[in-house]
Amino acid sequence: MQEQLSSLLAKASAELQSIRSRPELEAAKARYVGPNGELTALMKQMGSVAKELRPAMGKLVNESKARLQALLDSRLRAIEESELEARLGPPIDPTLPAPDEGPGTFHPLTLVREEVCRILRKVGFVVADGPEVETEFYCFDALNTPPDHPARDPQDTFYFPPGARFGNVSRHRPDERYLLRTHTSSVQVRTMLKGPPPIRIVSPGRVYRRDTSDASHSANFHQVECLYVDRNVTVRDLKALLDYLFAALMGPGTKTRFRPHYFGYTEPSFEVDLSARHLPKVNKEWIEIGGCGIVDPEVFRAVGYDPEVWTGYAFGMGLERLAMTLYGIDDIRVFYQNDLRLLRQFTGTI
Ligand code: DAH
Repeated sequence: MQEQLSSLLAKASAELQSIRSRPELEAAKARYVGPNGELTALMKQMGSVAKELRPAMGKLVNESKARLQALLDSRLRAIEESELEARLGPPIDPTLPAPDEGPGTFHPLTLVREEVCRILRKVGFVVADGPEVETEFYCFDALNTPPDHPARDPQDTFYFPPGARFGNVSRHRPDERYLLRTHTSSVQVRTMLKGPPPIRIVSPGRVYRRDTSDASHSANFHQVECLYVDRNVTVRDLKALLDYLFAALMGPGTKTRFRPHYFGYTEPSFEVDLSARHLPKVNKEWIEIGGCGIVDPEVFRAVGYDPEVWTGYAFGMGLERLAMTLYGIDDIRVFYQNDLRLLRQFTGTI
């Protein structure tokens, strides 16, 4: 029996060497250790071995079984490795330069944002930045928006849980909530608190509202804010800026019109419409594009400016709306889907 075992092992070891695939390995396994396998058959002969030889024989059989199992295991590992190699393909040289994908393109929102900033820089505006996580002070209180204003409702604004703390504000009342800014108007407050007038800023950025997403709404979208503070600023200056901005953006025929509206931070306040007749993809006479007005004295008081000395105008608009109008896009959601078929159409440079 001892001889049978060692010749079985020798045979198995030679045979397993040439096995390259899982089915072959499974078949070999069945031949040796399956219910009708050769080793199984030898083990069954244990019953006929003389009693005094049985312990030694038993040990031998177990050792043979373990060696056979080790051979099978190592074969399996070799097969697994070669399968992995086949999947990975030929070895690569990571030091070689990446294959050239060609230049990328800018996202339509980036193109419009940069164009708006470029046009406003020409007339002295500088780009200002502000955080997306704000407190109630910067987003509402300092902008003369009282606690019971509907915009502050948790149904409209994303608030952080009461315990949340962020390090981006120097002033924070213990009971004051953090939130995701609902508009870029908060940057007006941050800028004015940094220093005295005159101020002329443009501030693009992300804003958040509790909106259900559809063709014209998204819980996260983008705005551009403008603030100008100086002496003797009038509605006429505001109108002139907007006429200049939209003519530069959309062509010389573009007109703007103001409709009276209410915003807590401006008085008087207006909604701004754009004449859209000359835009091929828009078949309305006017489209609403943003809100604006003359900075309310309460806002100046909140930031420590003397409202008897300083005047200003402010303006805010949605970037998606503008990009949709400019490019004839009818669904806001395409901006966030990163579909290359859309993005490849925007080959413009900034
Ligand atoms: N913050 C307003 C909004 O999100 C837009 C706006 C209106 C901005 C009037 C202004 C303004 O600066 O003066 O709808």
